[in-house]
Amino acid sequence: AEPLRVGIAGLGTVGAAVVGLLQRHAAAIAMRAGREIRLTAVSARDRARDRGVDISAAEWHDDPVALARSGRVDCVIELIGGTEGRAKAAVEAALEAGKPVVTANKAMLARHGAALAALAEARGAALAFEASVAGGIPIVKTLRESLAGNEVSRVSGILNGTCNYILSRMEMEGLSFADVLADAQRLGYAEADPTFDVGGFDTAHKLAILTSLAFGTQIDADAIHVEGISAITPLDLAMAAELGYRIKLLGVAERTPSGIEQRVHPTMVPRSWPIAQVMGVTNAVNVHGDAVGELTLVGPGAGGAATASSVLSDLVDVARGARVLPFGRPAAMLESAERQPMQR
Ligand code: HSE
Repeated sequence: AEPLRVGIAGLGTVGAAVVGLLQRHAAAIAMRAGREIRLTAVSARDRARDRGVDISAAEWHDDPVALARSGRVDCVIELIGGTEGRAKAAVEAALEAGKPVVTANKAMLARHGAALAALAEARGAALAFEASVAGGIPIVKTLRESLAGNEVSRVSGILNGTCNYILSRMEMEGLSFADVLADAQRLGYAEADPTFDVGGFDTAHKLAILTSLAFGTQIDADAIHVEGISAITPLDLAMAAELGYRIKLLGVAERTPSGIEQRVHPTMVPRSWPIAQVMGVTNAVNVHGDAVGELTLVGPGAGGAATASSVLSDLVDVARGARVLPFGRPAAMLESAERQPMQR
């Protein structure tokens, strides 16, 4: 079979890890994909920067839209981030040309997911986003495919590695919020603008995606009540511990008599509950389905290699020619969710 020629737009922590993984596991990946996956083009802001990976064989583009349109690219991996501008333009250009897109961009999906899914469906191109939620945890495929026989009543969890890392180290080591945030940034967990993490908005973006997959509703991040962790102090954590609780930033979406309710806020969780044991950059997603019962997936929620693992999952699906609807049903058939205004 012909190789799948891949262009990567965005060479930050995750982009560089994807390049590394493609090189390190080339033979095994080709076996699983049924054909070679070849990196043929890259684009990023700074050409000179050393990223610790070899991109010399790939065509360089300053403009990700040009990469998406390149005749040497069959599939675009978008890892630029941001809801508007270059990331969205590159994704649209690829889909317009009928090229499959793999993206980790939860903020873009939270805002434009339904429209992008409709475009992908119209052009017969895949739009895949396993890496957009909970880093290395395969929750997108789990909800869309593995649990397809269930009616889901609730999906909830720890969806932001940076916040869980901060809360964990503040509690265990008594460190200040600012000190720990700087570490999370250094380790490549935090968003370019960490307000998205600590303000709860990144959790809300991910929850919006999970809600759409779980309940078949239109993505609507503005319908989520959002409260972040910036006001939490080491004293709050110590007092919660004394009462037998841990404070976790949770995202929750559940079916209620009045519709699907979505919310993000710091929550007191009894220390004996499994989700209270989830510490550090780890995420956890809990699903209630009528057939399967209760299911929890736990794993790394951020970081280059773990997130690249999810990108590769999508890439292998694309190489195999898997045709899946981005949100598990036609975009035109997604229902609207109950609205509760997002507080910014
Ligand atoms: N900033 C995000 C987090 C990265 O900390 O979870 C993964 O989406």
